[in-house]
Amino acid sequence: MGALVWITGASSGIGAALVRTLPWSDAEVIGVARRAPSGCAHLPADLATEEGWAVLARDVARRVAGGSQSRVVLVHAAGSLDPVGFAREVDPAAYTRNVLLNAAAPQVIGQAFLAATAGLPLRRDLVLLTSGAAHTVYPGWSSYGAGKAAVDQWCRTAGAEEAARDGAVVLAVAPGVVATAMQERLRATPEASFPARERFVRLHEQGRLADPDEVAARIWGVVDAGFASGSVLDLRDLPPPGAAP
Ligand SMILES: NC(=O)c1ccc[n+]([C@@H]2O[C@H](COP(=O)([O-])OP(=O)(O)OC[C@H]3O[C@@H](n4cnc5c(N)ncnc54)[C@H](OP(=O)(O)O)[C@@H]3O)[C@@H](O)[C@H]2O)c1
Repeated sequence: MGALVWITGASSGIGAALVRTLPWSDAEVIGVARRAPSGCAHLPADLATEEGWAVLARDVARRVAGGSQSRVVLVHAAGSLDPVGFAREVDPAAYTRNVLLNAAAPQVIGQAFLAATAGLPLRRDLVLLTSGAAHTVYPGWSSYGAGKAAVDQWCRTAGAEEAARDGAVVLAVAPGVVATAMQERLRATPEASFPARERFVRLHEQGRLADPDEVAARIWGVVDAGFASGSVLDLRDLPPPGAAP
């Protein structure tokens, strides 16, 4: 058997593009989302809930226990901006879900993957989608930006731990500004809720949003590029594919 690959957020945007551009033809791919993805198996889970995290953790543990895979990979691309707005003004229940999805889920899912795959005599990769919002202040994105900052520091720390145990390679990758439903949603947000909206509208009008399939292919390239575990990367800082070394 080839690679065993979980992709969260596989029903849309970058996650769906990761399914389409997977570089290994013999891989078994499990797409984790509430809506069904195309081109791979579906593991339905709401990753803003403890139950959703447990569904994924059980699936990872079950499949690696019974399998003869050559490699295991989990890419966590599920994420959401909602509710966009100033912390004091948004719906508290929606805000709590944002915190659970963007800050807690990557850590809980990441821990489950590392624990379930520890000791397997094969290559293990854990890739978390992060964002420039981890270190740029965007009023209207307090929990989203804080969630991505948590992703970055979790990656550095758990990545260093794995390196100390000859374990998985843990990476966080910021994709740049990508033409997905997340960006459409952002452009539909009132300026009062997200004062930087105009910047993203302009990028869209100038045709400067990255193509999801190109971004996904670059993410797969990063996975096999030999970065040290714990690296936090931004595709915009890396040489474009085919660039002279
Ligand atoms: N697009 C950009 O410009 C950009 C920039 C920087 C970082 N990112 C990051 O890249 C990742 C992918 O974003 P995208 O642009 O591809 O967004 P997208 O097109 O809106 O897709 C988001 C994905 O996350 C899943 N998701 C959302 N809430 C979920 C929940 N409660 N449980 C399970 N899955 C959930 C959605 O699946 P269901 O709705 O079917 O559950 C969907 O598959 C995110 O982590 C995002 O923060 C994107």
